[in-house]
Amino acid sequence: MPLVALIGGQWGDEGKGRIVDWMASRAAMVIRYGGGNNAGHTVVNKFGTFKLHLVPSGIFDPTTMNIIGHGVVIDPKVLIEELDMLREHGVDLSRLYISDRAHIIMPYHIIQDRLQERDRGDNKIGTTGRGIGPAYADKMSRIGIRAGDLLDQETLLSRLKPVVEEKNQILTRLYGVKAVPMTETFLAYVRYGVRLMEHITNVHSMVQRELARDSAILLEGAQGALLDVDYGTYPYVTSSPPGAAGAAQGSGVGPSRIRSVMGVFKAYSTRVGEGPFPTELSDEDPNAEVLRQSGTPWAEVGATTGRPRRLGWFDAVMARYSAEVNGIDILAITKLDVLDTLPTIKICIAYRMGDELIDTPPSSVANLVKIEPVYEEMPGWLTPTTGIRDFYRLPMQAQAYLARLCELIGARLGIVSVGPERDHTILVNDVF
Ligand code: IMP
Repeated sequence: MPLVALIGGQWGDEGKGRIVDWMASRAAMVIRYGGGNNAGHTVVNKFGTFKLHLVPSGIFDPTTMNIIGHGVVIDPKVLIEELDMLREHGVDLSRLYISDRAHIIMPYHIIQDRLQERDRGDNKIGTTGRGIGPAYADKMSRIGIRAGDLLDQETLLSRLKPVVEEKNQILTRLYGVKAVPMTETFLAYVRYGVRLMEHITNVHSMVQRELARDSAILLEGAQGALLDVDYGTYPYVTSSPPGAAGAAQGSGVGPSRIRSVMGVFKAYSTRVGEGPFPTELSDEDPNAEVLRQSGTPWAEVGATTGRPRRLGWFDAVMARYSAEVNGIDILAITKLDVLDTLPTIKICIAYRMGDELIDTPPSSVANLVKIEPVYEEMPGWLTPTTGIRDFYRLPMQAQAYLARLCELIGARLGIVSVGPERDHTILVNDVF
């Protein structure tokens, strides 16, 4: 039963899209299970360079079935634009299915997200402003609109009317901004439903059928485990569970069916948005400039918002914690080549808090910002690695660095990426 959950092990942006794109060619089905268009998965392949926000990265493979699972929150306008863009590039969309249980981002979610951020002032979270938090909040409050509702005008109207009334009270009375027009909103979402109708369906039987056939299925994560609403650096987190538990919940497969959890980790660390980042390097640090890769297609700017990512050394304390709470048993280490020109590379192996050394992250942000990272230094390899396809042909120092990461995280190595393109990949241990 080759069912693999592929999750981000850090704060998102680990290069998951590119690993899924590579693995999708060997999977019968890819299910994106959570998050929304706060995610941006960069994929480089024969069709071009793409930043996918909602469509599973398996879409480029001619035989893979792609599902947007019910744990995802969908902005239909963004999804339709993404589908149009893919179609223009000659990508076949006939095997894209959208769970009718997936929740829909409405205009008032985006307005609320931005107003909440504005009012947080210095305590802002640095959300992507895409309405993700309010959409998940409404799902839990049982006032969300689901993809299936878009296909039935009567249901949509009866669900939407009381919500729009309540939201307009909040928008006009609390925030003093314009109300959301009921009729226009309703009609716009009916039109979105018509555009997406051919893809929206009850995906349950489809998923069960592939499980019964023992097909290779990939559960595609978005964001990263350290942004998890329970385990992440709360409140500087996203509003969904991007980890392995969320993979089961958001795709409709039972947790016992997941054979392996692959954690994707960048060979260093990045973070976008606010929140603690123990190994962060200052912008003036020359190592940060190397990691940023300014001017390259892989430059460290957010794929969704274009914000520059904060940069830092690999944090093995966070990584081990992430592996523990998600049961990560196999690793994909991305962007190893970015470290090619560094003479010395640091790994954070513990935190110092006052006189104490700790090896697990404190749960509160108040304590997390007080810790000092304790580093171990390893020699760099000062050799280009992008052309290498075999682990044992990597420079010895690079092999040693990867082996040390595996040891510290507590999982075996599966894949290493050494460049932006699909074939810039070293397969060490297979998962399917
Ligand atoms: P939200 O998901 O838009 O509510 O943003 C909450 C936090 O998660 C912010 O710090 C975002 O920058 C971060 N975030 C959300 N999605 C991603 C992602 O795909 N990659 C990296 N960070 C993300």
